[in-house]
Amino acid sequence: MSRRCLRTAQLAASVLAVLTLGPASEAANPSPSIPEPSKPSLSSPAETISWTWSTVKPEPGQPRGYAQFERACAVCHGDGPAKPGTRALRAKYHDKEPALLAERTDLAPDYIRYVVRHGVSVMPPFRKTELSDPDLDELVAYLTRKRH
Ligand code: HEC
Repeated sequence: MSRRCLRTAQLAASVLAVLTLGPASEAANPSPSIPEPSKPSLSSPAETISWTWSTVKPEPGQPRGYAQFERACAVCHGDGPAKPGTRALRAKYHDKEPALLAERTDLAPDYIRYVVRHGVSVMPPFRKTELSDPDLDELVAYLTRKRH
C-alpha cells in the first residue's frame, strides 16, 4: 500500500470510528440515572454522615470541643492501632510529641484551623457545612487546652 493510500485509509477509519462509535456509545448508555444521596439527619449530629464521622457519643459533662473531636476527628486521631492520624503522627514525631492529637501541648490555634479547612495527606478538608466555624472554635479550644 502506498503512503498516501495508507493515510487515506487511516483517515477513513477514524471518520468511521467517530461516526459509528459516537452515537452508538451514547445509545448504549442513555442518560445514566444518578441515585438520590441519602440525606444526613441534622437533628442528631452523632449519627454517621460519612465514613470520617464517628458515632462515639460524648460523655455527659465533657467540654463541647471534646464532642466535636469525638464526632469528626477521633475516627483517625483516637487511641488504637487502626487510627491513620495517630499512626501518621507517631511516625512523624517519633515520640518527641504525643501521637494522640488530644494530648498535644504545642498546637497553635491557627495551625489547627488551617489543617482542618485544607486537609493534609490523607486527612480530608472539612467544609463549613460539616464543621461550622463555631464548632471549629470549640474544637480548637479543646485541642489547645494543654498548650503552654
Ligand atoms: C481520615 C483521617 C483523618 C481525619 C478524619 C482527621 N485527620 Fe487530622 N490527620 C490525619 C493524618 C493522617 C494526619 C497526618 C498527616 C501527615 O502525614 O502529616 C493528620 C494531621 C493532623 C494535624 C497536623 C498535626 C501536626 O503535628 O502536624 C492536625 C492539627 C489535625 N490532623 C487535626 C485534625 C482535626 C482537628 C480533625 C477533626 C476535625 C482531624 N484532624 C480529622 C488524618 C485525619
